[in-house]
Amino acid sequence: MDTDLIKVVNRLQETFSAIGGDAVDLPQCVVVGAQSSGKSSVLETIVGKDFLPRGAGIVTRRPLVLQLVHVPASTSAPARSGEAPSSSPRPTYEEYGEFLHLDKRFTDFGEIRREIENETFRVAGQNKGVSKLPIHLKIYSPHVLNLTLVDLPGLTKIPVGDQPTDIERQIQGLITSYISKPNCIIIAVSPANVDLANSDSLKLARAMDPRGLRTIGVLTKLDLMDNGTHALDILTGRVYPLKLGFIGVVNRSQQDINGNVSMANARQAEEEFFKNHLAYRNIAHRCGTKFLAKSLNQVLMAHIRDKLPDMKARLNTLMGQTQQELASFGDTAFLGDAHRGSLILKLMTQFARDFVSSIDGTTFDISTKE
Ligand code: GDP
Ligand code: NA
Ligand code: MG
Repeated sequence: MDTDLIKVVNRLQETFSAIGGDAVDLPQCVVVGAQSSGKSSVLETIVGKDFLPRGAGIVTRRPLVLQLVHVPASTSAPARSGEAPSSSPRPTYEEYGEFLHLDKRFTDFGEIRREIENETFRVAGQNKGVSKLPIHLKIYSPHVLNLTLVDLPGLTKIPVGDQPTDIERQIQGLITSYISKPNCIIIAVSPANVDLANSDSLKLARAMDPRGLRTIGVLTKLDLMDNGTHALDILTGRVYPLKLGFIGVVNRSQQDINGNVSMANARQAEEEFFKNHLAYRNIAHRCGTKFLAKSLNQVLMAHIRDKLPDMKARLNTLMGQTQQELASFGDTAFLGDAHRGSLILKLMTQFARDFVSSIDGTTFDISTKE
């Protein structure tokens, strides 16, 4: 039920963008944090694929708007004979990515990373420059929840390379332009090996979401904390109040990345880390990437549910207008190329009608299912 609703909303978004409209302001999850706090790593683990440029220094230099689209696993997927069944998701031909700026289907996720790098260089230059022009990427997979995620350049203080002297202000402005939207969900990333009082992401999130209602805290690098210290107080909400709480994760280290440690192995190691850690083992079930992905989906669902009455009203208005426009085209409108626009309108009307009727009489269940 819950993923169905998000699927409908994704379709709605596509429909509106196809006609160049921005009729429904849908929630997006935006990752915010200091440079190298682990934002891109967090996004990658939520998606469960290696495809984002990561590393020390400024790597993410353009916003990446990432739409995950859940597609059902094909029953005819070719299974190699003699292979032992595995619990970890195995790549299949039905997983692929598509960029808005390119007419090409990417099945190799390493190639997706290279395309992001090339596109970054193309627009933001070779030398650490930052551009606010987003890269749009859609990933289709049976292994993702329906989510739209935005990866952003990290907060920095000191200009390097070609960066302008006011780089800090520019990046803050860029981040603010995303997280100021009232229905944006802020994933505020803070590294556990830096005092939370110095967290740039929480500071910025608090400015835009003072009551902490749409901010989810993510604590990275728990594995890098000094021996004998831990972050249990933060993870249990005793340090910084966030309605949606803090979730601890352990991403791949630079050494893991260099050594090509697989996503599945990294997740396994993360699970072991929480289960075996003296401070975390009692809350291990609400730590880690998997729990984060699940929580995000729940938050998104609750958000959409809150917005439904308003969306429905707006759709009804749009439908009325569209029908009037259609009537003015007359019957011959759907014949030639010149009238393709009206065909889209027709399809949209149909879709809007289906959508509104699917809202009617639906009860929304946002409980988490295992
Ligand atoms: P971003 O700049 O915020 O997008 O950060 P990245 O995801 O690019 O990560 C920066 C560096 O920190 C990379 O070398 C990652 O391998 C490393 N890193 C990120 N998260 C963790 C973590 O949880 N543990 C460890 N050991 N390293 C991490
Ligand atoms: Na980085
Ligand atoms: Mg990054």
